[in-house]
Amino acid sequence: MNLPESSLRLQAAIEQRSSSVLVLGLGAVGLAMVQVLLEAGYRVHAADTRSEPIEAVAAGRSPMAHIPAAWCEAMARHPKLRLQRVEPGARLVFAAEELPSIGVICVPTPLDAQGQPDLGPLESAAHTLGQSLAPECLVLLESTTYPGTTRNVLAPILREHGRSDASRVFVAFAPERVNPGHGDPAARGAPRLVGGLTPDATRLAQAFYQSLGYAVEVTARAEVAEAAKLVENVYRAVNISLVNELKLVFAAQGIDIWEVLDAAQTKGFGFQRFDPGPGAGGSCIPIDPRYLEYFARQGGVPAQLVELAGKIDAHMAEHVVHVLERAALQTGRALQGLRVLLLGVAYKPDVNITSESPSLRVAARLLRAGAQVSYCDPEVPGPLELAPGVWQTSRVLDAATMGSTDAMVYLTDHRAFALDTIAAFPGILVDTRGKRRLRDRAAHYVSA
Ligand SMILES: NC(=O)c1ccc[n+]([C@@H]2O[C@H](COP(=O)([O-])OP(=O)(O)OC[C@H]3O[C@@H](n4cnc5c(N)ncnc54)[C@H](O)[C@@H]3O)[C@@H](O)[C@H]2O)c1
Repeated sequence: MNLPESSLRLQAAIEQRSSSVLVLGLGAVGLAMVQVLLEAGYRVHAADTRSEPIEAVAAGRSPMAHIPAAWCEAMARHPKLRLQRVEPGARLVFAAEELPSIGVICVPTPLDAQGQPDLGPLESAAHTLGQSLAPECLVLLESTTYPGTTRNVLAPILREHGRSDASRVFVAFAPERVNPGHGDPAARGAPRLVGGLTPDATRLAQAFYQSLGYAVEVTARAEVAEAAKLVENVYRAVNISLVNELKLVFAAQGIDIWEVLDAAQTKGFGFQRFDPGPGAGGSCIPIDPRYLEYFARQGGVPAQLVELAGKIDAHMAEHVVHVLERAALQTGRALQGLRVLLLGVAYKPDVNITSESPSLRVAARLLRAGAQVSYCDPEVPGPLELAPGVWQTSRVLDAATMGSTDAMVYLTDHRAFALDTIAAFPGILVDTRGKRRLRDRAAHYVSA
């Protein structure tokens, strides 16, 4: 094979760890990336537009419950790590011997006010890399996005900054597969997908992730890797909505969905269990289907099942509030003035991440109905913006708190929650997680 000289130089830089790596975005994905890079022996520059994660790591504190404090303590004194803040899209300047020739984009890919893909952070990150990396470079996009973004959004921005020579600038999509709160926060047990804009880009990206200890699966083109990442998460989103719809269907006729699922999974094959709850949360499952829907509409073939799943998901918080409202009415109370304690505001167990959390959707609806809402979450001490302009800190689940509460809503199944204490609550207990210990013991238990 006739490989460009620059690709051979980058390959050698990967093998010898002689290039430093610039990581943009220090959230769950970027922090995990920094850790594996340091473990693999790279020099790392990590930049974020917010000072919070930088200050936390620089002080040796973990900014996220699932990122081990020991990682951040070691990062704080690591001689090969430089942390800095960057203005969105700005150039970062390095000494010649520090000039990174590998850039990794780990920035958010949220929705805009109209619920459409917002590639603003990704575009800013592309501008920063386009101005800051060495002329021969490997650019990796890890953020989840719709097919075509790497080729039609990222690469053109790099070209704007003079990086138009495909024999010197190698661009690939390599979706992150971290699963906060489950096992290794860097998900080194899962192979990395890699799809480059050119065969050389794919080969270099493969060498890079292998140098970090990942098994690598290569796709024929970047678009396949982009689509595969969306499929992984859309699959979860649709199944979560399916099981939530089934919960409502069966509950209406007195059948407990959790008992149904226990029975169904005895089949042992051909059935993957998803558990009901108050709706999907986090920066992936509620967002990525909207990216797929956008992509589908661009191609003139709407993703109808995915859109319907989104509507069902959006209804779940309302359902929880209705269940509470009905239970309150039976005791002669309305939501107006009801003192409600939300148990869990993180979007899933044992993490402190509240982005897109269904608990916040429940809180917003209850507040609109005039309820007095507070929360208890051992992973999220706060202050937390529970709803726009409503800042709170976590309450302690003790006799005083329970004594001044009319209803509690069990939303996040954290291990740290003492179920026996919760079950002893004398008021209305709405359970969105099918906890048998609550159902069997609580005085006024209602399943939602
Ligand atoms: N969190 C997960 O479980 C997970 C898993 C797989 C994939 N992803 C995807 O990975 C991407 C990142 O996710 P995350 O959870 O780490 O996001 P996050 O929001 O927790 O962190 C992203 C960080 O990027 C910073 N940032 C924004 N714009 C920037 C810029 N122009 N330059 C530098 N920094 C910038 C933000 O300030 C933030 O700290 C998203 O596309 C997400 O969908 C997330």
